[in-house]
Amino acid sequence: MTRRPYERPIIVRHESGLGNKLSRVPALRPQEEIDGVSVEELVKTYGSPLFVFSEQTLVQRQRALADAFAVRWPKVRTAWSYKTNYLDGICRVLHREGAWAEVVSEMELDKALHNGVRPDHIHFNGPFKPESALEKAFRGGTLVHLDNFDELRRAEQVATRLGKRPGVAIRLSVAAEGIPPWTRFGFHLESGQARDAVRRLLAGDKLDLVGLHCHLGTFLLDPAAYREAAGKLAAFAEELRTEHGIRLQFIDIGGGFASHNALKAQYLPAEQATPSFEQYADAVCDGLRALQGPPKELPTLVLETGRAIVDDAGYLITTVHATRRLPDGRRGVVLDAGVNVLFTAWWYRHDVVPTRHLAGIPEPTVLYGPLCMNIDVVRDALPLPPVEAGDRLVLRNVGAYNVTQWMQFITLRPAVVMVGRNGQHGLLRKPETLEALTSWEEVPEWI
Ligand SMILES: Cc1ncc(COP(=O)(O)O)c(C=O)c1O
Repeated sequence: MTRRPYERPIIVRHESGLGNKLSRVPALRPQEEIDGVSVEELVKTYGSPLFVFSEQTLVQRQRALADAFAVRWPKVRTAWSYKTNYLDGICRVLHREGAWAEVVSEMELDKALHNGVRPDHIHFNGPFKPESALEKAFRGGTLVHLDNFDELRRAEQVATRLGKRPGVAIRLSVAAEGIPPWTRFGFHLESGQARDAVRRLLAGDKLDLVGLHCHLGTFLLDPAAYREAAGKLAAFAEELRTEHGIRLQFIDIGGGFASHNALKAQYLPAEQATPSFEQYADAVCDGLRALQGPPKELPTLVLETGRAIVDDAGYLITTVHATRRLPDGRRGVVLDAGVNVLFTAWWYRHDVVPTRHLAGIPEPTVLYGPLCMNIDVVRDALPLPPVEAGDRLVLRNVGAYNVTQWMQFITLRPAVVMVGRNGQHGLLRKPETLEALTSWEEVPEWI
């Protein structure tokens, strides 16, 4: 029998207990499989760390969103927010389910086209659309959402050069109570800038105004903000109809619905704090009721929901590399995945579960990543029973933004796989190799 190294005993106040609802340790049910496929089998096949996406959850969330709105509004369109996760496999599942694409750069536009999306089934947002991107968009009938006056002028020039008269939308920046306004995008509604933009667009007479767009922010837990914003868009649309005779084809309410994640500052757990799609749909459609006119002529409601669809479908399997005792008594655990691949750990308290039953008393534990960087912390006080090197931990609700915002810093990015609805699994992205990484580098001959 090998002797275990001596570890100095430390008394740590045990903070769990039913008597104290603020510090009660949630039950840690091990997660041995993902949609029927064993976590161990996935790691053996693809390595650790490993991102795993559930096709089933992705499809369920997409359908739940579409259904919740379809019973409340006659014409609804979902446009998959590419920036949230633009792996081809993810996008194609959602397009297969009927989602259009919502892109915010020329690269994303190209990726949507590469995924077989019809150019006129793409909404094009973002504050930076160079002429080449506008030209590509107008040639194919992509719906451009104008962000600022310079872009409006540029769009007119491109349209004139192409001999086309494209239908465009304008992005509005709308204030809603309790939401820090994203004033750097779009034309401000309350200041009158949006009205000026419409007047300017009509005077230019080169583009047709066919839509209004607004995106309030992300992970918005209060549906009331959507009621207010949708109400303002509807009132503005009515103004356009009565003053200028404009009948809009669509009103795009953007994204921002919360997933079953929890913000670091959030008090309630996700099961209690995250509104359902039905609650968001009630709020949005309530706000849109200010729209007048025959039902047949009501604009299509466009949703650019990203996070709330894909976050719950994503898992990150990690392996414990080492454990340590910190001077303040907390236990430290070094994982093979950190903020390099889990960018969202800076804002969210991701759910963490083991893959086996852990015996022992939960104690405050810090989860560190593999980076030689002090800020590489995945969770800073997770109540966790002792774990050992080699144990696996599964981080849940990590499907949004990580595989687009991750960074290649001192290590290589891991594989991403999808588990299908009948137990099959396959790669969505190969693990990076040094060879692939250095293939982009050059060494000038004079070095
Ligand atoms: C214009 C636009 N639409 C949609 C989204 C998707 O938002 P979310 O992932 O919060 O649903 C974003 C994200 O910030 C966005 O900027």
